[in-house]
Amino acid sequence: MDVLNLPNNEDDATRVFPLAFIASGDLRHVVGTLNCPPSNYSGNLKILMNDHNVPTVCRNIVILLILGTTPDKTMAADIALHFWYSVFMPVEYRITISAIITLLVKRAYDQGFGSLVFPLGQNSSRTCTITKPMCIYFGHYLSTSFSAQEIQGHYDKVRKAPSRGDYRDKMYAALRPSHRVAFQHFRRFGLILPCGAPNAYFNAPNLSLFSLKGEWLETDYADPLEGWEGRGERQKTTEKHTEPTLKTFTAASTFPSLNSCMLDAYDLGRKFRDGSLSADGIPSSIRFDRIEVSNIIDVNYVGLNNVLTSWSPLLCNNRTAAILGYFMNWFMIKGDGRVSGAGGSVNTKLMGSLMDKIKQGPEWNRMNLSDMETRIYTLADVVDTVYNNAKPFSEFLKKQLEGIDDILKKTGLTLRRKHAILSPVRIPALLEYPQIYHFRIYRDWELA
Ligand SMILES: C[S@@+](CC[C@H](N)C(=O)[O-])C[C@H]1O[C@@H](n2cnc3c(N)ncnc32)[C@H](O)[C@@H]1O
Repeated sequence: MDVLNLPNNEDDATRVFPLAFIASGDLRHVVGTLNCPPSNYSGNLKILMNDHNVPTVCRNIVILLILGTTPDKTMAADIALHFWYSVFMPVEYRITISAIITLLVKRAYDQGFGSLVFPLGQNSSRTCTITKPMCIYFGHYLSTSFSAQEIQGHYDKVRKAPSRGDYRDKMYAALRPSHRVAFQHFRRFGLILPCGAPNAYFNAPNLSLFSLKGEWLETDYADPLEGWEGRGERQKTTEKHTEPTLKTFTAASTFPSLNSCMLDAYDLGRKFRDGSLSADGIPSSIRFDRIEVSNIIDVNYVGLNNVLTSWSPLLCNNRTAAILGYFMNWFMIKGDGRVSGAGGSVNTKLMGSLMDKIKQGPEWNRMNLSDMETRIYTLADVVDTVYNNAKPFSEFLKKQLEGIDDILKKTGLTLRRKHAILSPVRIPALLEYPQIYHFRIYRDWELA
């Protein structure tokens, strides 16, 4: 996602834009934003990235340093890509990463922790707040205490858990045979390589994806495809899309300055305002053109109320500045957000229309009986992709806003009537690949 969307907003190729990603998760929205300004853009992007999760922040810092310090940009993108996603990597990559981390940890201990500045070229720098617990994770990434077999064992324990066999079979059943093979290949090896590419030299464990005890940190269904837009064959898609994206990012990242913090998003807003981060090079006078808050507006995270109260004073006072966030868990609260809660008649109608579509498709007449049965069996899992839940979402949002009228008055914010940054587009779904769709549900907030 490009949180700036310059052509639709400021349309100014010379301005400096401070941007905040306050519950960033991984780097993809920062990468998406840095890669998008027009080629004549000569301003400067000042980026603040924050997440309260130690391993997440540590991994982001290492990726940024790989991209910023490896002289060969193609190599930098490939090393960063495998550090980001692959369970094993070539031993040469691990040596490069170890050198970067060793330098980082040495500087942290020499300088007594806190804010460290890494100048990258003439116009760019990374300022990272490094704490002792973070150095434990950095040390873990370099550890030689786990053999490749042990790590493969921990990985398999989750990714091939017998208790999840039913889930996996249902997922494979909904795929075309070639995609099924590619998905299975990725589950087996966990490598971002095209299906069938030689992988014998990918044998150094990527411990950043494992806990300090060596346990796989992700779910059994974690999939990089969920983070990047794109369709087609799986590893190919991720590699084809992400690696060039990272290369562009490496080139673009010669200009921005980036601060990386590890705090609770609510506390961070408060600390900004009271000036307690000035020692880290962030003055209390700073105001952001965009504040991307991810889905921490969901009630089970920080909540809309707290996020808007804490961050609205830090938004620039102009018509293009915006706080961007989305509700990821809304359908758990609003039952009819999914077909299963919308009533039997909606389900029957949608299943019927799906069935009609399948019967009209070119493949139906060529299928044998068991393929037909499989196709019918998988309909229940994909029926949400054809359910239009825009109305339940509007009702949910209206209810949320009822409760925060006072906050909106106090903060001077308003929910935009028309999206200017990211349209809430429902990507058309192809029935065969339900796993690779995601729906954009970001909302923009601006000062009234
Ligand atoms: C809310 S989660 C959801 C994942 C997200 N939908 C995505 O697409 O990556 C996003 C990130 O927010 C971080 N997070 C959650 N609560 C936070 C908080 N109170 N302060 C800072 N970061 C937080 C999590 O560590 C996670 O990396």
